[in-house]
Amino acid sequence: MKIVAIVGSPRPRGNTNYLVDQALAEAERLGVETEKIDLCRYTVNPCQGHDNCASQEQCLQQDDAPWILEKFRLADGVIVATPVYYYNMTAQMKAFVDRNYFLYRHDTGIEAKAGGLIIVAGSDGTAQTDRALRRFLAFYIGNKRITTVIGLASRLGDMKNNASAIEEARKLGRDMATTLLQAA
Ligand SMILES: Cc1cc2nc3c(=O)[nH]c(=O)nc-3n(C[C@H](O)[C@H](O)[C@H](O)COP(=O)(O)O)c2cc1C
Repeated sequence: MKIVAIVGSPRPRGNTNYLVDQALAEAERLGVETEKIDLCRYTVNPCQGHDNCASQEQCLQQDDAPWILEKFRLADGVIVATPVYYYNMTAQMKAFVDRNYFLYRHDTGIEAKAGGLIIVAGSDGTAQTDRALRRFLAFYIGNKRITTVIGLASRLGDMKNNASAIEEARKLGRDMATTLLQAA
């Protein structure tokens, strides 16, 4: 059993990562393996839009997207996490989302039985971001299996003081782990 978290914040020690770490720690505590992939540490270029993926065995771009997509595809549970930038996901996350088009054009589903969204904003734009990411993830695993955690925080380190968001993230980790362990 494994949960893979894809994180779109450019700040590895920022507020989004803080909540993701809380969720993953709880899942680990219940015996589920986890892996976090900080997109900012890798190169995931934007989709080039030729729409010719179906006739290619591999994406034509030589970057980190193929191995990240493979981990995402094979995970039992997936968490997609991003801060809100101008009322939507970050550029790092949008590039990752668009590169999933390769899976779509190959009719390749993902295996996850549970999904989580973690969305962090200073104040506004979480609903739009939730809608966009939920539609992306629901396309593969269905809306019923997706829970969203929203946390408000602005400056680096602020999330440590947001007790309710921390508890929601921990609950997400526990609930996802329980779902996966019951399905095993
Ligand atoms: C370029 C940029 C755009 C942002 N746009 C929004 C926004 O539209 N709404 C909002 O509430 N916060 C916005 N923020 C604030 C971030 O969402 C907030 O600081 C968040 O805690 C950053 O998460 P991180 O620490 O994981 O990087 C923006 C921040 C930046 C740098």
